[in-house]
This record gives sequence, C-alpha cells and structure tokens, in this order.
Amino acid sequence: MTFRDLLIVGAGGFARETAASIRDFRALHGSSGWRLLGFLDDDPARADTVVDGVPVLGGSDAVHRWPNALVVVCTGSPTNWWSRARIVTRLGLPDDRWATLVHSTAVVPRTCDVGPGSVLMAQTVLTTAVSVGAHVHTMPHVVLTHDDTVGEFATLAAGVRLAGGVAVERGAYLGAGAMVREHCRVGAWSLVGMGSVVTRDVPPAEVWAGTPARRLRSAPVPAEMHGLHEGEMGDER
Ligand SMILES: CC(C)(COP(=O)(O)OP(=O)(O)OC[C@H]1O[C@@H](n2cnc3c(N)ncnc32)[C@H](O)[C@@H]1OP(=O)(O)O)[C@@H](O)C(=O)NCCC(=O)NCCS
Repeated sequence: MTFRDLLIVGAGGFARETAASIRDFRALHGSSGWRLLGFLDDDPARADTVVDGVPVLGGSDAVHRWPNALVVVCTGSPTNWWSRARIVTRLGLPDDRWATLVHSTAVVPRTCDVGPGSVLMAQTVLTTAVSVGAHVHTMPHVVLTHDDTVGEFATLAAGVRLAGGVAVERGAYLGAGAMVREHCRVGAWSLVGMGSVVTRDVPPAEVWAGTPARRLRSAPVPAEMHGLHEGEMGDER
C-alpha cells in the first residue's frame, strides 16, 4: 500500500473527526492510504498547539510549505457553513492538490462520482448515479439515492437521507437527520434544520426547518457567495 501525505485545514469538530478516521480513509479509486502531517488553522489561539494528538503546523497558507502534500479543508458549521468555500477560493490550489477521502465503510458504486476535496465519513451510502461535487462533506450514515446531485461545498450532517432525484445545490447545509422528498431541490447556501422533512423546493439562501419543513428566515450568507455561480470557483483556481 502506498501512502500520501495529507494536511487538514481546520482543527475544529469536523477536522478532528476526519483526523480520527485517517487510517480508515482510502483513495476513491485504488488502495492508497494517508499519512496525516497535521492541522492548519488560522485561529491564533490554536497556533503551535496539539489537538487530539495532532500538531497544528501553521495557518491555512502553510499549504504552500508542503507542495507534495494533498489538502482537505474541514471547516464549516451551522453558524458559518460558507467558510470552506472561502478558504478553498483563497488558497487557489489546483484540483490535483485536493484529497478526496472516502471511508472504508462508505459505499460508492462505479456509477457515482465524487469531486476533489470531498470527505465521505463512515457508512455514507451512495446507491447509483449519484453525483457529489467538490469539497462536499457527508457525515456518518448519510444515504444518497439514485440520481441525486450534491453541489460543491454542500454539507450533509449525520443521518441525512435523500430520496431519488434530489438536487442539493452548492453550499447548502442539511442538518442532522434531515430528509428530502424525491425530485425536490435545496437551493444554494440554504440550511435545512436537524430532523426536518423537506417536501417541496427550498429556495436559495434561506433557513427552513420542521416537518414538513417551512421557511424560518433568510440565511446570513455573505454577498460574495451569492455572486459565485457553478463552475466559477474552478475558474479561480
Ligand atoms: C434550524 C436552526 C439553524 C435554527 O436555529 P436558530 O436560527 O437559532 O433558530 P431558533 O433556535 O431560534 O428557533 C426558531 C424557531 O424554529 C424552531 N426550530 C429550530 N430548529 C428546528 C428544527 N430543526 N426543527 C423544527 N423546528 C425548529 C424553534 O423551535 C423555534 O420555534 P418557535 O419560534 O416557535 O419557538 C437549528 O435549530 C438547526 O437545526 N441547526 C442544525 C443543527 C445540526 O444539524 N447540527 C449538526 C452539526 S454536526
């Protein structure tokens, strides 16, 4: 088995969960494993610390100090789910520097695609003809079924389940245990609350929750995110 050096940007909850599973991740196609060099985090309070036994080697710009290491950005929360897009855009690395981490218990048939920089945690299941974009995070026990599309920078928390033909647009955040009815669309940068059942389309940049899910409010997404259209991030790299 060959091993690739890896840097994780961020040292918060999802970054620590990713680091804890490092021995269980494999490359999407092939059998290579990962050797974790450390976290990179822009929070000065985390500089030179050790988090869960893993050193914080510097800020995110330190990716350029290890040009042969692959990188994955593991930031984002229900209060700032666009941070990953911001960091990826600012770093501007080519596609072949982004690691794609697929847990050994995840199911990804050959009929499915997963983009660079994405992380599929334990027991994520893609059934068939599922398209997962770049820099997407799926937490444990996410189930994506036939013909679903998940846009870049989307985050699917633990236990999210999508019926067939669902479109989750770029940057959307689906809270833990949320479910989405077949052929519904969750608009770009919108957030669906934990445990919600989405039965109709959610427009872009709104917060919805409940069963059935209803609009709570608009999402506090920075204007720069609205100006980014599909593919534009790729152009900036
Ligand atoms: C949807 C969410 C963002 C709303 O948070 P908020 O803006 O702080 O909203 P509040 O807690 O003030 O709640 C506003 C109203 O929505 C309701 N509400 C909030 N979240 C809800 C949910 N998931 N389902 C149903 N109703 C919900 C509240 O009960 C409240 O109702 P009320 O006005 O009748 O009292 C948040 O509750 C949530 O679900 N976050 C995702 C958490 C998650 O999945 N984390 C995973 C991390 S790994």
